[in-house]
Amino acid sequence: MARTDARTVPLDSTSRQALAASGFRYAVVDPADDDAARAYIQAESRGFLGGEQSDDEVAEFREQLAYRRWVGVYDAGADAGSAPVGTVNSWTGELSVPGERTVPFWAISGVTVSPTRRRRGIARAMLQGELRAGRDAGLAIAGLTVSEATIYGRFGFAPAVRTADWVIDTRRAGWAGPDAPGTLDHVDRSEAVALLGALHDRVRVNRPGEVDGWLGRWRQFAAVARGSEHPGRTRAVAYTSPQGERTGLLVYRITEDETDFARHTLDVRALFADGPDAYAALWRFVIEHDLVHRVHARLRSIEEPLPWMLRDERGLVSTVRDHGWLRILDVPAALRAREYSAVADVTIEVADPQGFATGCWSLQIGDDRRALIDRTGTSAQVQLSAAALAAGYLGGVRFSTLRGAGLVRGDSDAIAALDRAFTAPTAPRLGIWY
Ligand SMILES: CC(C)(COP(=O)(O)OP(=O)(O)OC[C@H]1O[C@@H](n2cnc3c(N)ncnc32)[C@H](O)[C@@H]1OP(=O)(O)O)[C@@H](O)C(=O)NCCC(=O)NCCS
Repeated sequence: MARTDARTVPLDSTSRQALAASGFRYAVVDPADDDAARAYIQAESRGFLGGEQSDDEVAEFREQLAYRRWVGVYDAGADAGSAPVGTVNSWTGELSVPGERTVPFWAISGVTVSPTRRRRGIARAMLQGELRAGRDAGLAIAGLTVSEATIYGRFGFAPAVRTADWVIDTRRAGWAGPDAPGTLDHVDRSEAVALLGALHDRVRVNRPGEVDGWLGRWRQFAAVARGSEHPGRTRAVAYTSPQGERTGLLVYRITEDETDFARHTLDVRALFADGPDAYAALWRFVIEHDLVHRVHARLRSIEEPLPWMLRDERGLVSTVRDHGWLRILDVPAALRAREYSAVADVTIEVADPQGFATGCWSLQIGDDRRALIDRTGTSAQVQLSAAALAAGYLGGVRFSTLRGAGLVRGDSDAIAALDRAFTAPTAPRLGIWY
């Protein structure tokens, strides 16, 4: 299916009016306009507590993110080219869903409001404007990754993908996994950029929750992006299978402990593997690296083989938290997009204060594991919010667990049927920020 070009999607008129009533102007920013683009990029950086961006960094941002729809909020009387007081950007991404499928979704990023204009409703207007724009453009789901877990629930988003950050004491953990038949070689960072993109594209479709990346993201992982810290200390190792295919890549950086040269720390910036051999070889390289005592790895799946490949699994401490947040904009289209694990015949009532997902639906999942969904007038067996539906959409949490939290109500058998149907073959994961 051709993806909607987000830059052609008009600004939402309701948000335009709401912002105008508060003395703000809502505008699409043209990345080709030097002054406007620079002001937008500097405002976004400041909003995320970043430094002033150099000319090179501004140029790279403009080039890499030109495919997105950049939206700024300005003081009503501000000159063209002045700093926006609010920023957001959006594009049509691809979200992997169970059944080795992808669904186009409205990806949102770069939400900032100037510290001098906060708590005046600018973010609310921008977010609601993005949701209406995404829905009007025909997207069934919106998604984002978040700086704080407290901001987006009020807009109907929920954490659908959890992630794990690992700290590994390599001496204690020890390697007990299998040998891999291929070879490992250091590659230069520009080669790493290309491999990161290619490998991620190959594996993401089998991993519900993953989204497509972009060149700038891989350049940041490989410390090739302008303004990257310690580029020279960032190393990359590729795994080549006995058939000569590059099926894995590790990008890492070692920080020395100057008080003890046998206790350095290795940061895994990215480890992408297409298949178990590449996975085992690269993790063995990490765990058995000389002079390294501690490993940090972020954005790992909550269900990975590594703990089972260690001599002492308590050498790995995992911290799990929210990462991929989804928002259902169109219930039938979202539910039809994925495949299910069991048959079901359940009626659900979705409550959505913002109206996108409101309704009573009959959900029938047949032997083909696809959903037939229709509006129904009958009283539903299960009641839940749009956010609860988003939380369970990829199978990352059972609806019975959400019932325990008071977020789902209804008939126990119907909830159990939803649990069986929505369970995914693998835990949802998302290995990047976007
Ligand atoms: C988060 C941020 C965008 C909010 O902007 P804002 O214009 O002040 O937000 P609004 O005035 O529109 O507030 C909307 C609602 O969100 C709430 N809210 C705003 N910031 C919040 C935060 N950091 N934590 C929790 N709630 C927050 C407000 O209380 C308000 O709630 P209510 O209307 O339900 O009572 C802004 O503080 C910011 O730029 N922060 C730094 C960058 C950042 O973290 N961006 C988010 C990226 S994922």
